[in-house]
Amino acid sequence: MTHATIRGALLGAVLTLAAAPALAQDAATTAEQTIAAMTKIFGDHPGKRSNHAKGVVVEGRFTPSKDAAALSKASVFSGAAVPVTVRFSDATGLPQIPDGALEANPHGLSIKFKPADGSEMDVVTNSLKFFPVATGEEFRDLLVAITRSGPDAPKPTPVEQFMAAHPAAPKALATARTPSSFARQVYHGVNAFVLVDAAGKRNAFRYRIVPVAGEEILSADDARAKGPNYLVEELPARLAKEPVAFRVLAQIAQPGDPTKDSTVPWPEDRRLVDLGTLTLTKAVPDSQTAEKALLFMPNNLPEGVEVSDDPLIDARVQAYAISFGRRSQ
Ligand code: HEM
Repeated sequence: MTHATIRGALLGAVLTLAAAPALAQDAATTAEQTIAAMTKIFGDHPGKRSNHAKGVVVEGRFTPSKDAAALSKASVFSGAAVPVTVRFSDATGLPQIPDGALEANPHGLSIKFKPADGSEMDVVTNSLKFFPVATGEEFRDLLVAITRSGPDAPKPTPVEQFMAAHPAAPKALATARTPSSFARQVYHGVNAFVLVDAAGKRNAFRYRIVPVAGEEILSADDARAKGPNYLVEELPARLAKEPVAFRVLAQIAQPGDPTKDSTVPWPEDRRLVDLGTLTLTKAVPDSQTAEKALLFMPNNLPEGVEVSDDPLIDARVQAYAISFGRRSQ
């Protein structure tokens, strides 16, 4: 190494070291601004999530497939069934939103896998096929644009300008659909994660969680005509009669499929591996109390599953932590 290259390498290292806290700081600031914009849009509802405030908590098990164990060394994907706690939710920070409202889309499905060895895993999905934006900064900008687009805003409003500048956003939002039941909707992980097998082989993938009974979507008129709590009330009633099953699928990326842009769905011919079956068996006795203590973090992963380079994952982690801190006070 010449002196010049050593100096270059050192300078690079120093800059990287100096930049790391700055980047973390930026992400935290963006997340703070995101939560502030959510609060402005939805109001302050102490004890409730800043987004996906309305939901219902249920329990069951996940039974992994043989194919899952071949793709990942995580204990959740090998051997016996694993207990799970699951929360279904409506979008927005409005705890009283009518379940059939257009704004209650996308609905959420969050799963906490609780294997006996303690290597917990969280999977947090929604019913959009792909996401409106690729980064935390863009998501904040969208929310801020919404706060500035009230009835008196001049045309085109900030949110109309945002949509024009981000053509994936209206396309993604158009994939939102209101189901007849939380148990009859397909949920998408949107972000890419990585399965790592026992030999260290890595496969980028996206979750797709598909109801065994099939998807059942309501017309806009039928959705509006439903009672305000029809989704959160129907699921416990259904579970009192019969279990509900979903297939947990992994859409495996091919080289060149973008892992750091959640606005781009991968081609439909990509391999879909069945990782196992999620079987929901009962509602928890007091969902309101249960959901307060629950925190689902997209980066809460065991060995054998890793985050990808998708920047949205860290943006989410930062925002969820702030929301959890606020709602726990
Ligand atoms: C930058 C992007 C995003 C931001 C800033 C964001 C923000 C939030 C916040 C603040 C919460 C409340 C967390 C809590 O208090 O526990 C939340 C919940 C949730 N988000 Fe996101 N989100 C983002 C992207 C996504 C994506 C891509 C998905 C799904 C693919 C998603 C699905 C959900 C779900 C299902 C919940 C409810 C979790 C639960 O049941 O506890 N979000 N989000």
